[in-house]
Amino acid sequence: MPKPILEVENLTKRFGDFTALKDLTFEVEPGEVFGFLGPNGAGKSTTIKMLCGVLTPTAGRARALGFDLFTEADQVRQQIGYMSQKFSLLDDLTVGENLAYFGQLYGLEGASLKDAIQERVRELQLKPLVDLLVAGLSTGEKQRVALASSTLHRPKMLFLDEPTSGVDPLRRRLFWEAMDDLVKDGMTILVTTHNLGEADQCDRLAFIMAGELMAYGKPRSLKEEMGRQVLELRTEQFRALQRATQGIHQIISSELMGRGVRLSLAVNSNPDPVLADLRRQGFSFEATAPELPSLEDLFIDLVQQSRQKEGV
Ligand SMILES: Nc1ncnc2c1ncn2[C@@H]1O[C@H](COP(=O)(O)OP(=O)(O)O)[C@@H](O)[C@H]1O
Ligand SMILES: [Mg+2]
Repeated sequence: MPKPILEVENLTKRFGDFTALKDLTFEVEPGEVFGFLGPNGAGKSTTIKMLCGVLTPTAGRARALGFDLFTEADQVRQQIGYMSQKFSLLDDLTVGENLAYFGQLYGLEGASLKDAIQERVRELQLKPLVDLLVAGLSTGEKQRVALASSTLHRPKMLFLDEPTSGVDPLRRRLFWEAMDDLVKDGMTILVTTHNLGEADQCDRLAFIMAGELMAYGKPRSLKEEMGRQVLELRTEQFRALQRATQGIHQIISSELMGRGVRLSLAVNSNPDPVLADLRRQGFSFEATAPELPSLEDLFIDLVQQSRQKEGV
């Protein structure tokens, strides 16, 4: 195992009496795209802001690239890039002026600043935008400019806070391709999202909910650890079929999905007798082959667990 590029230990943040983040511990390995997943209010932005020095932690430790992020921040600042959820671009400056401004913030000047800007403009296809005011750009354009401005100094570790929220699937895919290019160049990326399709593309994930780490690992391992198989039964009688499945003890959960029912069974149980039982009850349906649960299944499970814990 390579030495982690980022180590976070028992990171905690309280705002007054409210605990926004509780004892968060995880590691990011060099060269990975690490996904930080969780519903709104989970504590994703709070975590990133503490790691990027924008917010002071209440307790806990974090090391990046061999330095303590809270006591030796000056030594690592130049090697970290941060794209905030609100992009923090300057609306009344042009794209070119924004890039120059952020490049200078990260310590670039003269020829190295000019070269860095040219390179980012080329790689992220910003040429037609350079002389336009940021205020008039679309969300997708702002996202590209924000990505460019947070990577001008070629950071080793990049934090992206919901970089693709509010754009269409095509723009989202293009943004992920741009991220892949950065990783090929040797960058490590921590990206927050609440999009499960994006989460599936990450090398590893941390799933947080109400400030607590709920699941942590490779997407495939997390699905396997659920110990389940899922299959869909397609039928016109989906409502009646779903009611019937609720009485069958081998079935862990059954949900309506489109014009069908999504069943979840223990990974080692045989679905055939269950299906035969339903057919004997008079239902006709087509069943898909059993497969691994999805991140959506995991997400629903975790939400239900956390509700049970809170007694909701
Ligand atoms: N400055 C603040 N003061 C008080 N509460 C805050 C502050 N910033 C964030 N919070 C609260 O902390 C929780 C986590 O917020 P945030 O990290 O923004 O979540 P996420 O990015 O996962 O949507 C939320 O309940 C939010 O309302
Ligand atoms: Mg956020």
